[in-house]
Amino acid sequence: MIKKLAYGIVALAIAVSCTSPKANTETFEAGKLLDYAVTKTSATMNSLHAADSLPRNIYSTQTEWNKVGIHDWTSGFWPGILWYAYEASGSQDILENAKEYTEALKGILDVPVDNHDLGFMLYCSMGNGNRLIENEEYKNFLLVTADSLATLYNPKVGTILSWPVMVEQMNWPHNTIIDNMINLELLFWAAKNGGDQRLYDIAVKHAETCMNTLIRPDYSTYHVAVFDTIDGHFMKGVTHQGYADSSMWARGQGWGIYGYTMTYRETGDKRFLDVAMKLADKFLERLPEDGIPYWDFDDPAIPEAPKDASAACVASSGMLELSTLLTDEKLKARYKNAAVKMLRILSTDQYLANDKNQAFLLHSTGHHPNGSEIDASIIYADYYYLEALLRLKKINENGTL
Ligand code: GLY
Repeated sequence: MIKKLAYGIVALAIAVSCTSPKANTETFEAGKLLDYAVTKTSATMNSLHAADSLPRNIYSTQTEWNKVGIHDWTSGFWPGILWYAYEASGSQDILENAKEYTEALKGILDVPVDNHDLGFMLYCSMGNGNRLIENEEYKNFLLVTADSLATLYNPKVGTILSWPVMVEQMNWPHNTIIDNMINLELLFWAAKNGGDQRLYDIAVKHAETCMNTLIRPDYSTYHVAVFDTIDGHFMKGVTHQGYADSSMWARGQGWGIYGYTMTYRETGDKRFLDVAMKLADKFLERLPEDGIPYWDFDDPAIPEAPKDASAACVASSGMLELSTLLTDEKLKARYKNAAVKMLRILSTDQYLANDKNQAFLLHSTGHHPNGSEIDASIIYADYYYLEALLRLKKINENGTL
């Protein structure tokens, strides 16, 4: 009887594989790496003393996190890691810490909004918290945060002002950076959860304007679009954190892939899907042989230039989601396989920090032109690595996110 059943299952499997146009997808189990990330998260958690002192980076000569305060643009990533680690492990201890560190971020809105990073700071942290434990206080706080972010929107230009401080400092009357695409997720969420419809409209208009300005004809990206405030026209593209204005800064391209994928998920507008795929194709076409990008694809110092693992993490997480939004089996496999390949390489001894320091990963680059965070461990690399592992686990288990 059991034998008969087994033959039946094999016959069914053969029949399904003959009729379905499924393309080959890479298998890669996230389980052990999730355990690694949860163990390291607990170890860092137990070494920290204050909820408003948050891990940001570790240089190659160090072993422990350098910390920043809640107003730093990266402040949401550590609480975000705690939420993801709780999701991966169910640990009550991690949950209590996630709540404590998220609570400490409430002070972010005590000062006037002075940049676009509210989404990174509060959606990666409190947004994940609300997704996992549905907390009314978090929800209300996120709605207020979305309204605050929207105050930076300039209807004449059609985008959110990313860096108010650069208006005078760089003489950029209105400026919007590709990273800002990530912050739109907070606006989309708010519009669906009791916020104004206007928040949705702002997010869509922002994505459209950036599509026509920050994205070059060859689907590489500028970092910054500078606009005139009188008539709103696009004045120039700049690549502030990259090698040159005309170069392809790796993390910026990653923000674009991730941001336009999320924007397609929220709008169903195929223009955004098309852009997300083309940005991903450009990223993959230019990846070096060893599979992890240099900090800028056009740095003439390559192959001696530093890598940016964080760009690979952001791009992997974005491509995993992209694979779930497609129906064509070959395209689904293309982006899933590309993401898995990067995660596989990031999960080797070359990139894993193991016991070298407190982070999950080594070899990220923050702001090369400033000489800061070059070839370091950086908190957002860990955040997007953990997010990508969780996404992969869900896709492997359920076929979707
Ligand atoms: N959002 C700033 C960066 O990617 O460095």
